[in-house]
Amino acid sequence: MKRVTVTGSKEYDIIIDRGLMKDVGRYAAEVVNPGKCAVITDDTVESLFAETVTESLKTAGFDPFMIVIPHGESSKNGEQFFRIMSIMAQQKLTRSDTVFALGGGVVGDLAGFSAASYMRGIHLVQIPTTLLAMVDSSVGGKTAIDLPEGKNLVGAFYQPDLVICDLAAADSLPEEVFADGSAEIIKYGMICDAELLGMLKDPIEGQLEEIVARCVSIKRDIVNEDERDTGIRQLLNFGHTPAHGIEKLSGYTIPHGHAVAIGMAMMTRACRPEFAQKLEKLIRSHGLPIETEFSPEQLIDAALSDKKRTGGSITLVLPDTYGTCILKKMQIEEIVPYFQKTKREV
Ligand SMILES: NC(=O)c1ccc[n+]([C@@H]2O[C@H](COP(=O)([O-])OP(=O)(O)OC[C@H]3O[C@@H](n4cnc5c(N)ncnc54)[C@H](O)[C@@H]3O)[C@@H](O)[C@H]2O)c1
Repeated sequence: MKRVTVTGSKEYDIIIDRGLMKDVGRYAAEVVNPGKCAVITDDTVESLFAETVTESLKTAGFDPFMIVIPHGESSKNGEQFFRIMSIMAQQKLTRSDTVFALGGGVVGDLAGFSAASYMRGIHLVQIPTTLLAMVDSSVGGKTAIDLPEGKNLVGAFYQPDLVICDLAAADSLPEEVFADGSAEIIKYGMICDAELLGMLKDPIEGQLEEIVARCVSIKRDIVNEDERDTGIRQLLNFGHTPAHGIEKLSGYTIPHGHAVAIGMAMMTRACRPEFAQKLEKLIRSHGLPIETEFSPEQLIDAALSDKKRTGGSITLVLPDTYGTCILKKMQIEEIVPYFQKTKREV
């Protein structure tokens, strides 16, 4: 077992081990009052883990009720958000009660925003079940829902009370979904951890505990320094500006991690062609794409509707060495050269 403690505006632990689902209640009862609680999950995750988690909660003295959303990004919306608010009100959840977010990044973001909003904030325990949620979205307190106008446009910074990461959940992930998490892991390597990039030459499955702990520790350190995403935290957006464009243009049929992989490859081809092939090879070896059919013009258009723009300028994350990135604030017109290399050089 590994335990990583986050000490930002609020202190909380991330517990990492195999087989933690059956102990969720016990660990949660150490940090929140065992009382009424909402377990928010999606219909896929429900069939895998809901029974174990609710049994564990009951054993620890909690009184859980389930809220199940259809799986997929299209559920991260206002309609599901208000449905959750109403159910929690009908169930008479109080300010001292808890939301358990059991699922991937979609459930984590939606349930997190629900916990942040209901009665101006109730307790939140994240139980990530995808690799992406384990290494990234369950930690750091960003919660959000999407609008038709763009992803994550409504949300809050809201830290959980605890993150319980059962590595065994990764066993049932479809290959594509596992790969989405691999993209975020490669991202951590590229922004600040060349040694991690070396570890990724071997399959992630065999070194999962070490890799998850390493990634959340990096995120912890970055978030501790810049919780509100006005400075160094923006490094975590490596590849994400083109990625949000790719996701949007595809009507969200290209998943987040796949889009991030393409975005990282694009930025690296544009800035550091000398190690672009090495990164492309690594990305492809984890079952991820490195090219997009969308044109630079389409991508720039979509990227400019991205919320990370501030006034007439935008901050891009650019690779510097194989294992470090830098932030570069630039005028909108200046981003054009960084979006040109949508395909690999042949
Ligand atoms: N808050 C943050 O800091 C942050 C960071 C990165 C990404 N995100 C958000 O995360 C979302 C993507 O998250 P995701 O990739 O986890 O997608 P997801 O939550 O949609 O999960 C992907 C699919 O895997 C299924 N699934 C989940 N756990 C499973 C398991 N153990 N076994 C089998 N199937 C399982 C889900 O039902 C779903 O169909 C996006 O909305 C993105 O914006 C947020």
